[in-house]
Amino acid sequence: MKTRRVLTAITMAVIAFFFSATPLPVAASVVEHTFVVSQMNVTRLCKETLVTVVNGQLPGPVIDVTEGDSVVVHVVNKSPSNITIHWHGVKQWLNCWADGVPMITQYPIQPNHNFTYQLNITGQEGTLWWHAHVPGLRATLHGAFIIRPRHGASSYPFPKPHKEIPIIIGDWWQMDLALLEKHFKKEIVDDLPVAATINGKIGDLYNCSGAVEDGYVLDVEPGKTYLLRIINAVLFSEYYLKVAGHKFTVVAADANYVNPYTTDVIAVAPGETVDALMVADAPQGRYYMVALPNQAPLPDPQIPVFITRGMVRYKYDNHGEEEGDPSNDVPMVPEMPDQHDTTTSFHFHGNLTSLHRPQRTKVPVQVDEQMFITLGLGSFCPHGRSCEKRWRGNSMGAATMNNVSFQLSTDMAVPLLDAQYYHCNSTSSSGDGIKLYTLPDNPPRPFDFTNPALTPDGSEAALLQRTIRATAVRRFRYGTVVDMVFQSTSLLQTDSNPMHLHGHDMFVLAQGRGNYNASRDVASYNLVDPPMKNTVLVPRIGWVAIRFVADNPGVWFMHCHYEFHLMMGMAAVFIIEDGPTVDSILPPPPLNHPKCGSHVNSLKANELYLLDNKVVSPA
Ligand code: C2O
Repeated sequence: MKTRRVLTAITMAVIAFFFSATPLPVAASVVEHTFVVSQMNVTRLCKETLVTVVNGQLPGPVIDVTEGDSVVVHVVNKSPSNITIHWHGVKQWLNCWADGVPMITQYPIQPNHNFTYQLNITGQEGTLWWHAHVPGLRATLHGAFIIRPRHGASSYPFPKPHKEIPIIIGDWWQMDLALLEKHFKKEIVDDLPVAATINGKIGDLYNCSGAVEDGYVLDVEPGKTYLLRIINAVLFSEYYLKVAGHKFTVVAADANYVNPYTTDVIAVAPGETVDALMVADAPQGRYYMVALPNQAPLPDPQIPVFITRGMVRYKYDNHGEEEGDPSNDVPMVPEMPDQHDTTTSFHFHGNLTSLHRPQRTKVPVQVDEQMFITLGLGSFCPHGRSCEKRWRGNSMGAATMNNVSFQLSTDMAVPLLDAQYYHCNSTSSSGDGIKLYTLPDNPPRPFDFTNPALTPDGSEAALLQRTIRATAVRRFRYGTVVDMVFQSTSLLQTDSNPMHLHGHDMFVLAQGRGNYNASRDVASYNLVDPPMKNTVLVPRIGWVAIRFVADNPGVWFMHCHYEFHLMMGMAAVFIIEDGPTVDSILPPPPLNHPKCGSHVNSLKANELYLLDNKVVSPA
């Protein structure tokens, strides 16, 4: 009794101390949204375009939660396309069922059908985003996913900002994006956007019939600090972002805090997010915020460059005196990097290091498996015949990881995750299971990966490797520590490759130019404070070394976040096996998940997703 009383007193003292030192945590709550996916007409640049949106908004609604919350999203598909929503960067701990990848973790949500996602947000803070995981449509089906610290904004590892603003860089297409993949499969590859956007606005560099387009305006108060939550949601370009007369302090990337780093330019590739503080410390006035894409120089094929701009506008306080209207000021324009400058991005990414915090995950030192993965374009070589010409007409061939171009198995009648979980491997008439192909740990044959003579279709073409189309998977035992080097190649093009892994963050140990060379490059690994990212930009003509722990059982997509590379097959599936303990075993799916596709299992992947995104009415 007495002991208990003493203990109680100690406990009370500890609690009192704890609460005096730390702000009260916000109680975890359930955040519920309904996403109605539908088409609407939007007129931009004098042309009406039918776009697919969530709740009539572009960009879509912001999901704004506190770490520890649960999120429930009811998706109501009133569009004519099959849809899934992916919560990009959300770890989905033991919750692969809600990852939102069609035919990999779930059936696509068919027109006039609903699906409810349930997510738990644990151990992550910062900026992520959500987007449709169907080809093309994510250009308009996306929005910010913001996770706030449990103990409030005062627990940010940086001064509390006055305001927090999502800045979503997007692009504007004057076509039905559901057709993008269809065209692509028919080898029509001249579909391009017509403009870029900041928070859905095209900006005043574009006009039609003399009327300039609206631009995004950020109103600021002098001396105040703003947290910009920057997201690249475009389909295939890395962007530079600048605000004239202002600097940024980068504080996080991919919802992981980084050591504050000051720069006047942000580089952000598709799939990446960057959190940056901006102090409104310039003379009062107006300053352009400009986003400009970069691309590989010639002889790489060139695409038109779409620059977009918005504005930072100081709140004008004239203290009652008569002064000029600020709108008469000439806004200041930032000096942008060249469109072919990829060095600025290389340095931007190389400057990221993770912030030291007690809860930061340490880099494991013991590595269990090593993989070396080449990324590039390829060509198909039917048995006994020579390889098809890669650039036949406008054809773009395939994009590959270690010469395998990902394609869902045509025997697949149920999502891969169901097939794994329930062993309902196949309900196809032939009765044989889904044909899976193991992603090789190395390319079939080493070559001078970054030899300039390989671009665009040079004399070294003989080095082009045979490409196969397959459902490439790689299994990992629970807890495996994996080292992976991604090597961008110069085969036909010298693009960078933003590689995104679902369900995990990766430690970015090092990056470099040219060919990776273990005996030289391992020494440059940062094992102290490497940044953690869900999307890793593999530089053009260069490589990145990452390490990750395969500790989230399930079936996880890994792919390039350039939409064309993804459509061309630069993807694989990582299957992470259950571990030995209760909390390392993937629980069964939520009740709303059709087990082995019970209600749709007469459909094949082909009909649902592969060849035609716009179908479907189950019998
Ligand atoms: Cu943001 Cu699989 O994607």
